[in-house]
Amino acid sequence: MKPKVYITRKIPNSIVEKIEYTCDVEMWEEENTPVPREVLENKIQEIDGLFCLLTETIDEELLEKASNLKVISNMAVGYNNIDIEAAKRKGITVTNTPGILTDTTADLTFALLMATARRLVESSDYLQKEEWETWSPMQLTGQDIHGATLGIIGMGRIGEAVAKRALGFDMKVIYHNRSRKPDIEEKLHITFVEMEELLQSSDFLCVLTPYTKETHHLISKEELSIMKNTAILINTARGGIVDEQALYQALVNKDIWAAGLDVFEEEPIPVTHPLLSLQNVVSLPHIGSASVKTRLKMCEVAAENLTKGLNNEKPKHVVI
Ligand code: GLV
Ligand code: GLV
Repeated sequence: MKPKVYITRKIPNSIVEKIEYTCDVEMWEEENTPVPREVLENKIQEIDGLFCLLTETIDEELLEKASNLKVISNMAVGYNNIDIEAAKRKGITVTNTPGILTDTTADLTFALLMATARRLVESSDYLQKEEWETWSPMQLTGQDIHGATLGIIGMGRIGEAVAKRALGFDMKVIYHNRSRKPDIEEKLHITFVEMEELLQSSDFLCVLTPYTKETHHLISKEELSIMKNTAILINTARGGIVDEQALYQALVNKDIWAAGLDVFEEEPIPVTHPLLSLQNVVSLPHIGSASVKTRLKMCEVAAENLTKGLNNEKPKHVVI
């Protein structure tokens, strides 16, 4: 009998077909609605493999219901939506899709940095709303990117790819990470600094660390108060790393200058959220890895991880 697989969102047929070579597949057929928890609770009882997205919370309570589950394949590099310890206790393999989305996410991080610094969204709105009456010396002036200091929190693959892009803009790059990365320091001429110095010296601060218990609200009131009042915060990692209430206050009080956010504590963020009312916030709906090529590749790799794990081969990207 083929192993049973559940896919929690509609993915391209070509990829479903590949999984079907070796597995019996069922899929939640919606593209824009996540699978309801009750459905997942039901399905998990009978499947051997799960293909899921970051929108599904795979917690201990859910895993307790699974009796045959061997592999959870998350179509994302981040896996904070999965209780890794609980999966480990049950002997379930968890896989993710690192590497593939690095450059696409670094591109978006840089796009968001530039859009925020140069007030692109606000400027476009200004034109559309027919407020553009004349050219004026200080109209819609932003912050320079070239020559500025970029601070990166988290020197993983994406951190390194953002640093590389920054060098092309003649930025000075400093970083903080749990461990130093001497090879990257040497290759890219970037400098490790302690967190306090990173906060004090950065004109742009990019959050690119995984979301864990240790990084929850890593950027909160105190950290924001240390930053320059001309500084711009960019978060393309996970919303929970930044304390949104503290960020809102810091932006209102002009403790920092602006923020570019692709991720939020609650996703989708309600449009009535105070942060979204601020002109100096550029907000995006978690599109870091959203290029056609990269999303297809992520689907493909997540499918490969799943089928390998179910067919007793070692998947390429094992978290545990
Ligand atoms: C997206 O946020 C991912 O973790 O892949
Ligand atoms: C994080 O996992 C990264 O790829 O930078």
